[in-house]
Amino acid sequence: MSERRALRILISAGPTREPIDPVRFISNYSTGYMGARLAAAALARGHRVTVVSGPIIERLPAQARVIRVERAREMERALRREGKPVEIIIMAAAVADFRPIRQASAKLPRGGRMRLALEATPDIVARLPRRRRQLIVGFALETGRVVPRAIKKLREKRLDLLLAQQADDQGSPFGRQKVLAWLVARGSVPQATVTALGRVSKSEVARALLDKIEALWYGQRDKNIEGLKGFKKAQRA
Ligand code: CTP
Repeated sequence: MSERRALRILISAGPTREPIDPVRFISNYSTGYMGARLAAAALARGHRVTVVSGPIIERLPAQARVIRVERAREMERALRREGKPVEIIIMAAAVADFRPIRQASAKLPRGGRMRLALEATPDIVARLPRRRRQLIVGFALETGRVVPRAIKKLREKRLDLLLAQQADDQGSPFGRQKVLAWLVARGSVPQATVTALGRVSKSEVARALLDKIEALWYGQRDKNIEGLKGFKKAQRA
């Protein structure tokens, strides 16, 4: 990366936990492995990495700055704060989709039946402020037809890049297993560029994503420099 300036990359990782009462929560099977692989790959390329992480079992690289959070609300607050100065945001966290409308202040007694009223958590990545030139990367986990749903998510969440994975019968997509993945990039014609990655490890996913991010970022910067050169030439003429 000799002439290329290192990027500041903010990565969200792991699940969130949405409390039911002081001792119970709603969450998912995310382990933080994807976030850890992304952080390691970005650091190895000389970038500066901050990770906003839910409670995870995987270890994050020691050179990464790590901010620990628990609930979706805390993750959102941390990402909005830490997202201000960075060039790249990668939303690899598996935010819990639902949370209890009310959290009981005392432990709920066992027995009989209980109904839990839930509401959707805020869509963190869709609500992040868009900053000029910043690239925002999301993930999508789909059953059924992956690519059309991924393109729809890319547009609805206003992402620059999306890594779509299929949840199929070859095992859970969480943790260290390989995943069936596609890279979907925002584009004008038709609406997106789709690259099938096949069944890949999460290190390979991290590599493919960072290759694309660097191509978009430095390509974009080189284009701006070219544009500026052309402008100056035209002024001199
Ligand atoms: N995401 C988010 N906030 C949420 C839920 C998801 O920021 N409350 C982000 C994820 O981190 C991911 C992207 O949105 O980068 C897509 O997540 P996914 O679970 O595939 O999509 P959902 O929006 O939750 O839609 P659905 O579960 O209905 O498919």
